[in-house]
Amino acid sequence: MEKIVSLAKRRGFIFPTSDIYGGLANGYDYGPLGVELLRNIKELWWKRFIRTRKDMVGLDSQIILHPKTWEASGHVGGFSDVVVEDKITHKRYRVDHLIENWIQGKAEFKDFVIEDLNVDDLRNFVLKNKIKSLEGNPITDPKKFDLLMGTHLGTLEGEKDLAYLRGETAQGIFTNFKNVLDSTRVKLPFGIGQIGKSFRNEITLGQYIFRTFEFEQGEIEYFFDPEKEDPKAMLKMWQDALWKFVVEDLGINEKNLRWRRHTDAERSHYSQDTYDLDYRFPFGWKELWGVAYRTDYDLKQHMKYSGTDLQYTDPHTQKKFIPHVIEPAVGINRLMFMVLCDSYREEAERVMLRINPSIAPYTVAVFPLVSNKPELVSEAEKVFELLSQHFHTYWDDRGNIGKRYKYQDEAGTPFCVTIDYESLLEHTVTIRNRDTMKQSRVALSDLISHISKNS
Ligand code: GAP
Repeated sequence: MEKIVSLAKRRGFIFPTSDIYGGLANGYDYGPLGVELLRNIKELWWKRFIRTRKDMVGLDSQIILHPKTWEASGHVGGFSDVVVEDKITHKRYRVDHLIENWIQGKAEFKDFVIEDLNVDDLRNFVLKNKIKSLEGNPITDPKKFDLLMGTHLGTLEGEKDLAYLRGETAQGIFTNFKNVLDSTRVKLPFGIGQIGKSFRNEITLGQYIFRTFEFEQGEIEYFFDPEKEDPKAMLKMWQDALWKFVVEDLGINEKNLRWRRHTDAERSHYSQDTYDLDYRFPFGWKELWGVAYRTDYDLKQHMKYSGTDLQYTDPHTQKKFIPHVIEPAVGINRLMFMVLCDSYREEAERVMLRINPSIAPYTVAVFPLVSNKPELVSEAEKVFELLSQHFHTYWDDRGNIGKRYKYQDEAGTPFCVTIDYESLLEHTVTIRNRDTMKQSRVALSDLISHISKNS
């Protein structure tokens, strides 16, 4: 974990936010390489789940929605963690995380499911076992702590209305369900997907970009008629699609993935069945992607709170009903963290990120052999111009070739192209493969197809 964090900062993937002010707990910024990786993941998500499916459409709703949205969804008052405070340091902890830490290595708690504990159970467990803070200090009585982040709208003092920064992107999809029905020609089963920022008052610190106050979600609400489609089959269809995306598109090792079904006590208030796709992060198996069967809970609630008819009319039978929904929901930043963890390699003489070429921040780097020979630099610039029309291309003419390779290995760039004296005479270049470190000579005219074929 430390090595990944250090490489991510050194190479410009992830910086602590507001670094010059000493950082801000649970906040990170994405540097020149990180922003590219994040974008590539989002674009692939959009391509796979929206653009290449005829049963999906996209959406981009606001971060601040009508406050009633969050009353209807059950988030106001119902979206909270149970928290305690260290009586000496005043640091706050999520109780379930303190318990998780306390039971670690204790054989009698081998099969213990913390998620099964409700608020009272958590409190009793802490009191009975005299659990202390991570610093070993006494803690306060457990209390509920709201995760929704409030904000105020309006410019005049006294006229400000309480609103919320969205805690999930999902609600913007439900509140636009009717708009999408009225403006498009979708018919069931169909889904609406969106990518965007969500905000939560998270308590647990120190898990890097795994859990942050501000994060991006990629969420899909897939609507269907439960009389025509079996919810179990719908869940399975989405589980298969997510697994395929993670393994084939993102190139993640299957050994580090598993499905885990939520227990009855653990499931969110809106769900009838939930599966988590877990990834083996450096701190253990943790949720990457959740797939929940939200039934007709949300649309029914919004219909009740808004008074708007959110029923669907079957075009063949004219039957009117509220569709049910399957929700695959993922944190884009968690996907990126997984990609960094899974691709990190240490070899005898180098550190490398073996990122799938389809999402690597840069696909190819172009180097003139030396930077003080104008004819080499000019030829290399032409190659850069050519390649950059097709691939995200990096330019480097600093230091020696060995150092440039080292930088690109740590950046995860699959190919490096060097323009040397032979290039000037024969219109060929040297192309070096990140994974094999093998170099080969390729005709300039074949370069684009060579990279396309191998990426
Ligand atoms: N709409 C359902 C929903 O939001 P969730 O399990 O709370 O469900 C979905 O969140 C996904 O969002 C999680 O699987 C995780 O990948 C990501 N996520 C949730 N909270 C996060 C946080 N504080 N920081 C980063 N990612 C988070």
